[in-house]
Amino acid sequence: MSLTLANAALLRSQNFINQQWCSAGQGRRFAVTNPATGEVFAHVPDSDDDDAGRAADAAAEAFPAWSARPARERAQLIKRWHARILANQEDLARIISAEQGKPLTEARGEVLYGASYVEWFAEEATRICGDIVAEAVPGRKLLVLKEPVGVVAAITPWNFPLAMIARKIAPALAAGCTVVAKPAEDTPLTALALVWLAEQAGLPAGVLNIVTASRGSTPNVVDAWLADSRVRKITFTGSTPVGKHLARESAGTLKKLSLELGGNAPFIVFEDADLDAAVDGLMAAKFRNGGQTCVCPNRVYVHEAVHDDFVQRLARRVGLLHVGPATDENAQIGPMINARAVDKIERHVEDAVAKGARVVTGGRRVRTADGPHYYAPTVLIDASPSMALSCEETFGPVAPVFRFRDEAEVIRDANDTPFGLAAYFYSNDVRRIWRVAQALETGMVGINEGAIAAEVAPFGGVKESGYGREGSRHGLDDYLHTKYLCQGQLG
Ligand code: SIN
Repeated sequence: MSLTLANAALLRSQNFINQQWCSAGQGRRFAVTNPATGEVFAHVPDSDDDDAGRAADAAAEAFPAWSARPARERAQLIKRWHARILANQEDLARIISAEQGKPLTEARGEVLYGASYVEWFAEEATRICGDIVAEAVPGRKLLVLKEPVGVVAAITPWNFPLAMIARKIAPALAAGCTVVAKPAEDTPLTALALVWLAEQAGLPAGVLNIVTASRGSTPNVVDAWLADSRVRKITFTGSTPVGKHLARESAGTLKKLSLELGGNAPFIVFEDADLDAAVDGLMAAKFRNGGQTCVCPNRVYVHEAVHDDFVQRLARRVGLLHVGPATDENAQIGPMINARAVDKIERHVEDAVAKGARVVTGGRRVRTADGPHYYAPTVLIDASPSMALSCEETFGPVAPVFRFRDEAEVIRDANDTPFGLAAYFYSNDVRRIWRVAQALETGMVGINEGAIAAEVAPFGGVKESGYGREGSRHGLDDYLHTKYLCQGQLG
């Protein structure tokens, strides 16, 4: 696939360090491929610890001046970045689709979604404030200041190549931090384009730096930042094992961490739910990005009284989803990110069927002219806790339905996981709504709603889904620390 853009300058193929577009020190590069066909359409630097160190040098040097800028000036620069993102939205959507496989219509939505975080944090920059505390002792003034934490390392995933990096970089810059970033090896081009737009917006030298690295070289880059005492915070979205590694390895320099990790979201349909609304909610939450989201429902629990009716309505809708290349304007489910992803989905479905699940629709790979990395949107029934898909993230377009009898049982099963990112439930009983919302052990709960993420809301998990929040005022607070001033001798 050739990637033709209205603004060809967006297609960057170098690192950006201290306001210079540059190759990796060793001159190595790796290929960026179309996830459906495996076709190579770009090469980017395969960076190492030296490149990571140079990026950290630049960010550390830029920090004093950037953090000292008035918040309104930082806000204006971030707003200029936002305007440039919007002005290039169609090209950005094309880059996302090309390297990640997200259908073009969804990629356009991701650009707006990511841009909304940039705008939000530009506005929030001017609202950072501390406290003046009532004095406990006469003649003393007690003040609480909020200060930027310092250099931030942002390590971002492939499933939302624009939105995830935008909602890390924007609050960091708004708070007065400087940034070193490493995008996922599958999707570096969107991140590089975003950084180029920030440069065009006038961001000063060293404030935002990015290096790309292949899967093999990523540990060298990340380890360099983990060991660097000037890097004061790591913000990461990705798997729980990697999140735990970052937590362990950053202990040496006690960095602040924001970890948005794996999920295993339950989606519960009670007997008093509006079934059409519940199907709409599940379609939105489960099949977005082909099921490749951390917050998408992994286990669908349906009360036995409405089970058959719900499954019939759901299967009808799922069977109509159009599978096709990301560039097809009608596609609703694009290719999965790579062969390993499709193999995992296939393994989960085969394991479930071997343990008694039945396929209502889908349940197979789809071989298109575009390649073998597609999986049919799938509904399974008779799912049970012994199946791999009940405890591991499938990260694909598969909705396994579990039947339940009562509220206590379904709450116990929904919480029976080390993960705690998102949960969803549908009910029209106001007392039950409060009971269940409080009983679910997750950072986010969708109540009669499947699309819960927004720039104004705190996104993040509990348990082994991580800590820290993105979006909302809490998402800015994660890039600030608290300094207490006590002035005496005033009496
Ligand atoms: C994710 O899947 O990691 C993020 C999804 C979202 O922002 O809604």
